Amino acid sequence: MHANHIPDGLRLCRAAGWNQIARDWEILLNHSANDCFVATIDSQVVGTVVATRYDSRLAWIGMVLVDPKYRRQGLGTLLLRHILAHLGDSIPIGLDATPAGREVYLKLDFVDVCSLARFECDAVTAPYDSLSVRPMNNADLGRISAYDTNIFGTSRDDLLRWWYDGAPQHARVDSRQDICHGFCLGRAGYAYHQLGPIIAEDSAMCRQLVGAAFATSPEKRWIIDVPTVHTEFINWLKERGFREQRTLIRMVRGGTLPNYDLTRQFAVMAPELG
Ligand SMILES: CC(C)(COP(=O)(O)OP(=O)(O)OC[C@H]1O[C@@H](n2cnc3c(N)ncnc32)[C@H](O)[C@@H]1OP(=O)(O)O)[C@@H](O)C(=O)NCCC(=O)NCCS
Repeated sequence: MHANHIPDGLRLCRAAGWNQIARDWEILLNHSANDCFVATIDSQVVGTVVATRYDSRLAWIGMVLVDPKYRRQGLGTLLLRHILAHLGDSIPIGLDATPAGREVYLKLDFVDVCSLARFECDAVTAPYDSLSVRPMNNADLGRISAYDTNIFGTSRDDLLRWWYDGAPQHARVDSRQDICHGFCLGRAGYAYHQLGPIIAEDSAMCRQLVGAAFATSPEKRWIIDVPTVHTEFINWLKERGFREQRTLIRMVRGGTLPNYDLTRQFAVMAPELG
């Protein structure tokens, strides 16, 4: 896949009802230039798949999309087989599966790790600003990236910076200077603004970060992808007008996710990135 395929990627996103915009394809192509592929029939793009590598310790598959006209003809499987052969067997490979995608991945030796629920709202009720968090700035990014590496399990410094640059208005960090206790970032999308990643020491800090992020624009349509273990946070979201839109199943193949601390990941960055 090259930059001139982005309009095709967007066409497939719209057909699937996904939220990604051109900027989301750009970061995938920038981060993983050699790991993004399209399937074509008569020169027309009918499918996509990308992989993001993290420090040679983890690869993440995303943007598995097949044109609705060509589904159930083996293309999804073909795309997966291609990228699995390309990535090789030396590192674990993760992904967040839709229920349809999971049917494809189970046959290719992926196993379930946990589930995520996507919550959406048309407008947040009862947002609140919090004295213990503040807007993030550029100078915070190094400290935040180090904190995140500990919890996500591998560095994703360039992605965090890209997220921040794309939507600094959604970024919040705890206000204590020396040690990071939590942060959240967001991104703009086609139909929704998405909040994530949300990384925090505990549920109380998570709620403060999210409340403060919403406070600037409660009228927006938001989505958040939350690991379903976080029942307290999920109930708090429901009290603020969120409803469950769909389920995603986190899966892995060829090992376990490295140093993966889900207890402090209250929302993932993006299904296509882990
Ligand atoms: C999921 C998707 C990529 C599958 O692509 P595809 O080309 O239709 O997949 P394949 O033809 O290789 O399917 C292989 C097998 O997976 C299973 N499968 C695929 N789609 C399925 C569905 N919607 N429901 C149930 N099983 C399904 C079937 O067992 C199928 O074999 P069969 O057709 O012989 O019964 C495609 O439906 C799509 O783009 N969906 C929208 C976006 C999406 O959900 N992507 C996955 C992100 S994780």
